[in-house]
Amino acid sequence: MPDLDLNIGEVRSSFEKALGDAKTLQELDAVRVKFTGKKGDLTLLLRSLGKLPPEERKTVGQELNALRDEIEHALEKSGRKIRDAENQQIELNEKIDVTLPSRGNSIGAFHPVMQTMHELVNIMQGLGYSVALGPEKEQDFYNFECLNIPPWHPARDMQDTFYFPDGTLLRTHTSPVQVRSMLKYGAPLRIVCPGKVYRRDNDPTHSPMFNQMEGLLIDQYVSFSELKGTMSEMFDAFFGRKLKYRFRASYFPFTEPSMELDIECVECSGHDEHCRVCHGTGWLEVAGMGMVHPNVIRAGKIDPEIYNGFAFGIGLDRMAMLKYGISDLRLLFDGNVSYLKGAE
Ligand code: FA5
Ligand code: MG
Repeated sequence: MPDLDLNIGEVRSSFEKALGDAKTLQELDAVRVKFTGKKGDLTLLLRSLGKLPPEERKTVGQELNALRDEIEHALEKSGRKIRDAENQQIELNEKIDVTLPSRGNSIGAFHPVMQTMHELVNIMQGLGYSVALGPEKEQDFYNFECLNIPPWHPARDMQDTFYFPDGTLLRTHTSPVQVRSMLKYGAPLRIVCPGKVYRRDNDPTHSPMFNQMEGLLIDQYVSFSELKGTMSEMFDAFFGRKLKYRFRASYFPFTEPSMELDIECVECSGHDEHCRVCHGTGWLEVAGMGMVHPNVIRAGKIDPEIYNGFAFGIGLDRMAMLKYGISDLRLLFDGNVSYLKGAE
């Protein structure tokens, strides 16, 4: 039957073309269905075999079987080829280049102010001081009243304050820890009190939140020269060299006499009249201090006839700026991690 002969040739050539066009396993599967599926071209041919006269059935049947083997073989071979190519592509894409440099670990660092705090606390612990802490939300009594600052006292104006409706406040300095500690530990006493304090300030050298470290020593026959010696020990150790010191008379309601301490400019040592750190003065103000006022000692339930002492307060943010050459206080609070890490 010439029709069937012709069809065998057509199916073979259309299969070869379809096979050549199939680039993916999905396309290849479509080819398989089109030729050997239930209604596939080859399947239909095989079914029509029965309509042939018996004498032709044998040869045509052999031919069709050969074509079926050929198609199945070709499909399998092509499938293998496509699968190999796909695997190769995956290998290429997911290849790991072991010679690439690694991303590395990012190691954390202490904030420059915290580092300054730790260094100063360490130095003072070496001098026999312990660390005492107090609350940031403080009572008027500890922040002002017991420090010789009654409500009418003009010194309250020096520290514009954040108040809560219940009359408590954000402490304006670390000095409230003085009386808190005297009440808690009695005399003799040697403590440093680092921590956050708050004021209504905001400019390049004043921040609404900053850090201080208070120092307090209570004992018998404490002299002013001990205070001077303690200050020079501490700042020499902190800056790593012998500095020059200048004590200036000042006023704090809770110390008498009171001083402010200047150290020689750590940038120019007084040799640069255009120095951006000391502005040509050669001196830097670093701490307030004095001999503890008898009223404060009394508020701490210690007898001022027997005990006396000294106290000092240092601005830690300013210390960090001096030590690490930071020009604007606000850089410390901007949260630029790579900048802050630079102080390591
Ligand atoms: C006091 O706060 C006193 N309590 C210090 C003291 C303690 C005196 C014990 C005597 C005995 P003063 O207001 O000057 O003092 O502040 C101390 C330091 O805090 C300043 O020298 C300065 O370095 C720092 N400071 C003050 N205001 C700010 C601010 N807004 N931002 C950053 N640092 C500040
Ligand atoms: Mg001041």
